[in-house]
Amino acid sequence: MNTNDHTLTGRVAVVTGATSGIGAATARRLAAEGAAVGLIGRREERLKELAIAIGEAAVPVAADVSDQESVYAAASVIRAQLGRVDLVVANAGVMLPAPFESADTVEWDRMVGTNVSGLLYTGRAFANDLIAAAEEGGPADLVHVGSIGGHLILPSYAVYFATKAAVAHLTRNLRAELGPRGVRVKNVEPGLVSTELADHITDADAKESLARWREEVAPLPATDIADAIAYAVAAPPRMNVAELIVLPTRQG
Ligand SMILES: NC(=O)c1ccc[n+]([C@@H]2O[C@H](COP(=O)([O-])OP(=O)(O)OC[C@H]3O[C@@H](n4cnc5c(N)ncnc54)[C@H](OP(=O)(O)O)[C@@H]3O)[C@@H](O)[C@H]2O)c1
Repeated sequence: MNTNDHTLTGRVAVVTGATSGIGAATARRLAAEGAAVGLIGRREERLKELAIAIGEAAVPVAADVSDQESVYAAASVIRAQLGRVDLVVANAGVMLPAPFESADTVEWDRMVGTNVSGLLYTGRAFANDLIAAAEEGGPADLVHVGSIGGHLILPSYAVYFATKAAVAHLTRNLRAELGPRGVRVKNVEPGLVSTELADHITDADAKESLARWREEVAPLPATDIADAIAYAVAAPPRMNVAELIVLPTRQG
């Protein structure tokens, strides 16, 4: 693996969910490694602030990943400004745990729409870019941000964990489809990370029990996940870091 300071010079990346947490940290990290970065999220002001912090190589585009047309429109803007994309981080996600019998089903739709459909729309919007980059022998990466939750069983988390299990299986199947064509499809599965993810939980009991868990197990900073992603995409094209579980040590 290239251990130079700038391992991603010349790469054109896109990060969804770049307005906070893991996405924002990853965008900063990829840019620090020399990549140009398209930034996608819904909160436009935050995207603009991040783009200013990153500098010329960042293009902020507000889009809702659960809306296919919105993602495609953002992809067109990014491609027009930065050129062909060869590194996609499909990171945008929401986690809204609640008991099955009382959950607001709109929250189920949001999780499925963002974590599964949004991730698929993101990959599809850039699929031709990635295949073309791979055909030219360069690295081409489709990074899914799943979750350790895709392997776990916990009351109130059925739908969120199912979306992340879906991400894991989608990744494996897309790897079988695109790997032979040179595109590295990978799943990065974090454990507890200190971000805004839990802020959106509406069920009081679920929110409280997660807060207690986070007191017991100090969550990782988002920069740790950004480091893991930066490592995986900087590997030589022959090598795919296909599945990467990154946990706080004390999460066990
Ligand atoms: N934090 C953890 O402990 C943890 C653990 C395992 C996996 N993960 C995964 O990591 C990913 C990032 O989450 P995070 O922890 O960094 O949480 P976060 O700080 O809440 O970030 C979530 C990001 O997703 C974006 N987003 C949500 N819905 C969107 C939509 N419809 N369209 C576009 N962007 C959307 C948000 O931006 P806007 O609201 O501005 O759109 C935000 O930038 C998620 O997939 C999450 O499931 C997190």
